[in-house]
Amino acid sequence: MRISVVGNGYVGLATAVGLAGNGYQVVCIDNNPAKVDLINQGKAPIYENGLDDLITSCVNKHKTLRASTDYKDIADTDITFICVGTYSSSCGGTDFTQIAQAAEDIGVVLAKKNGYHVVAVKSTVAPGTTEQVIIPLLEKASGKKAGVDIGIAVNPEFLEEGKAVDCFLNPTRIVIGEYDKKSGDTVEILYRDFSVPIIRTSIATAEMIKYASNAFLAAKISFANEIGNICKKMGIDFYDVAQAIGYDPRIGRKFLNAGAGFGGSCLPKDLEMLIDSAGKAGYEPRLLGSVRDVNRDQPLLMVAIAEGIIGGLQGKTIAVLGLAFKPHTDDVRDTPSLRVIASLLEKGASVRAYDPMAMDNAREVLPQSITYCGNAAQAIEDTDCVMILTEWDEFKRESLYNGRVVIDGRRVLDPARARAICDYHGICW
Ligand code: UGA
Repeated sequence: MRISVVGNGYVGLATAVGLAGNGYQVVCIDNNPAKVDLINQGKAPIYENGLDDLITSCVNKHKTLRASTDYKDIADTDITFICVGTYSSSCGGTDFTQIAQAAEDIGVVLAKKNGYHVVAVKSTVAPGTTEQVIIPLLEKASGKKAGVDIGIAVNPEFLEEGKAVDCFLNPTRIVIGEYDKKSGDTVEILYRDFSVPIIRTSIATAEMIKYASNAFLAAKISFANEIGNICKKMGIDFYDVAQAIGYDPRIGRKFLNAGAGFGGSCLPKDLEMLIDSAGKAGYEPRLLGSVRDVNRDQPLLMVAIAEGIIGGLQGKTIAVLGLAFKPHTDDVRDTPSLRVIASLLEKGASVRAYDPMAMDNAREVLPQSITYCGNAAQAIEDTDCVMILTEWDEFKRESLYNGRVVIDGRRVLDPARARAICDYHGICW
């Protein structure tokens, strides 16, 4: 079976190298020529743990992977995965521009192809989107019939950014939403070597499974943050609470790390999209609305804590350590640091910022008036307060904080040890 992957972000690339590493012939299709060139040279166009090595071996050694800007190359494959990005539109719903374009472009190629071809959607889309938007566009552009000439499946991904390759190779489950049995059977063949549950469902159910997974993770984090905020008021360390409740297998310890809230390109957007979809279906999701509200306010607690300790922020200088939405990535999309920095600037403070990986991306989205520093020690120099927003290993070095006011938004430091050397405050502990 030959595979094409349209859209080469972390989802598309992890899928492509995961399958190419298993011996399938894979072509990555992307309209960015620079990305395509890098892949063909055996180099990763984005940072993802393990990606570079796998691309190198698949391209140069095994010759199972190549990239192209030409959609026509899809015709030589049997399955096409759609992995393009989906975005929140300015009016609240989903922006389908990229996915609609991909469906049309694939359809145009399939119009001239003889034989059966499966299109599998990996991009996260609201329940109903594949049937109401993607299939009609594919059928119109190809002149072919879904379920007859074209197979359709929704095969959501559960990849964590930064660990995407590892998550692809070691999944917890594989979900295949199928338009018809043949479509599902064809996609399932690709996963036959994975010994995890394979769940075959309808198309809309698979779309909902993805949303529900991310909404649950988001809810777990906002739950942790809400209990954490109550703990803070009562002088209780939430992490002691999390550890104890986490032993209950019905609760589990993972995703109970209270802190500055969740960011990134997935949880905030998918939660928003699910709220929007529910509203369109005639249901007002109060719990999901609260999950979002808790998360929206959470980073700002860092600023409130700072004001409580050092007073008004006008004219003060604050060090912000960590700009990426989580460690091991350079991604700053919806990062809590952005909200914290905007609030600090609004209150008249100056900001000195540092992140080991995300400074270039940060420069594109953060206000120009902040000062970027070459390392954590430099950022901390001559500041009134230090805020830790991302749990990078290098921020764990306690000696950095000698004598400083420190507000830890990610439980980077051990509170007891930190309190011995600095004026240390945790966001939820
Ligand atoms: C998330 C999901 O974890 C993946 O399963 C899913 O496939 C992916 O979205 C997606 O939809 O593609 P990701 O966005 O890479 O993955 O990031 P996470 O590791 O989930 O972290 C999201 C945010 O939550 C980060 O800002 C992180 O700091 C925060 N977080 C996470 C907490 O505040 N507390 C926790 O306990 C865990």
